[in-house]
Amino acid sequence: MAPDDDTPRENADAVVRSQYEAHPYPPRDPDDERQRLITGSPSHIREINHYVFGGKRDFSKPFRALIAGGGTGDATVMLAQQLADQGPGEVVYVDISEASLKIAEARVQARNLRNVSFHHGSLLDLGDIAPGPYDYIDCCGVLHHLADPAAGLGALEEVLEENGGMGLMLYGALGRTGVYPMQEAIRELTMGMEGGDRLALARRLVDSLPDSNWLKKNPAVGDHLLDDDAAFTDLLLHSRDRAYTVPEIDALMSGFGFTITGFIEPVRYDPATYLDEEALVGRARDLPWMDQCAIAESIAGNLKTHVFYVVPSSHGTTALAQADNPGMVPLWRDDDGPAFARRLSGSSRIKMNFDGLALSLELPDGAGKVAELINGERSLGDIQAALYQDWITFKARFDRLYRVLNGLNLMLLKAG
Ligand SMILES: C[S@@+](CC[C@H](N)C(=O)[O-])C[C@H]1O[C@@H](n2cnc3c(N)ncnc32)[C@H](O)[C@@H]1O
Repeated sequence: MAPDDDTPRENADAVVRSQYEAHPYPPRDPDDERQRLITGSPSHIREINHYVFGGKRDFSKPFRALIAGGGTGDATVMLAQQLADQGPGEVVYVDISEASLKIAEARVQARNLRNVSFHHGSLLDLGDIAPGPYDYIDCCGVLHHLADPAAGLGALEEVLEENGGMGLMLYGALGRTGVYPMQEAIRELTMGMEGGDRLALARRLVDSLPDSNWLKKNPAVGDHLLDDDAAFTDLLLHSRDRAYTVPEIDALMSGFGFTITGFIEPVRYDPATYLDEEALVGRARDLPWMDQCAIAESIAGNLKTHVFYVVPSSHGTTALAQADNPGMVPLWRDDDGPAFARRLSGSSRIKMNFDGLALSLELPDGAGKVAELINGERSLGDIQAALYQDWITFKARFDRLYRVLNGLNLMLLKAG
């Protein structure tokens, strides 16, 4: 964590802001909107429905989302487009960086989206600049840059609808191993330098690191290796950021009466993903879910960011969609789902690479047939009937498939 204790908070805030004025993050070209829509987590509309509204939200009705610290607009553009495709939903963007706001605005204009309003200012002043209430709030990679992240979370909580929820991203402490010692070394060695000179010297230092350096050894972190000054700056020249473990996130959220409904990707937060021995898997399964997530983080070691959804604890049990009745409808998260399903036929495993770790997950028998029947309209009951299986046999197989496909954040649920 950057030591800003001896700097007045306003000055430290100004330094954070000036970084994002000089290096809007992430770098984006509004012209690219004509060719593609960037989708991601949190705040994909299907994830919001699954993790916040139990799969029951009707987006053909009014819906109001806040993107707090929207940067160059990834979540704003994605959600505004997805809402516009379904109904009258609107997005409210807030950021302290004017340069970032202009890029986000140009991207929204390039798509002819008319459901976004832009506000320049701090999320700590939401009551003045963009008052709630909001059905949903996105705050991705922002709270960990505040002098007091809890105060930021409190400001968001104040404008959130009672039955709403949030999608957040906070840096992961273990996955960022090596980042903070390097930030510290660079800070000391570039004291008094600014702009391009500082960046160039920092880059030369990073190029010359010995093989024993933890950042160099960390396969999960690679932004400093890109030819991208904004990414390098965000990772190693940041004036203020901190990182969290799963238990720290849980404590921060429960302090404000929030329950975490899911981490993305779920499979990475499941100890069974990393364990071979049945006795160990069994012992892990006996623990509360949050403890399992914490153990998975400790074992994996490569969770460099934590993307997760929260809801007020009062409706924590109903917020997460569950495959617990024949009326629920499985759907692909992204448009390439059906093509992916066709490739599953005949496969017994799915292979994925996450931040330096290759995972190979076993699929149940008949996975391809079930996957090909998923079209976002057929319910679990319809799929069961199409396969001529009784509910218990079907459900046992579906649950195993769901663990993998939902675990990889490829499949979600909605209410029928
Ligand atoms: C790492 S960027 C993330 C941008 C965006 N959320 C994303 O995930 O692409 C952090 C953003 O938070 C903004 N920010 C930092 N402190 C803020 C504050 N107090 N209020 C609003 N925005 C803030 C910065 O200007 C920057 O655009």
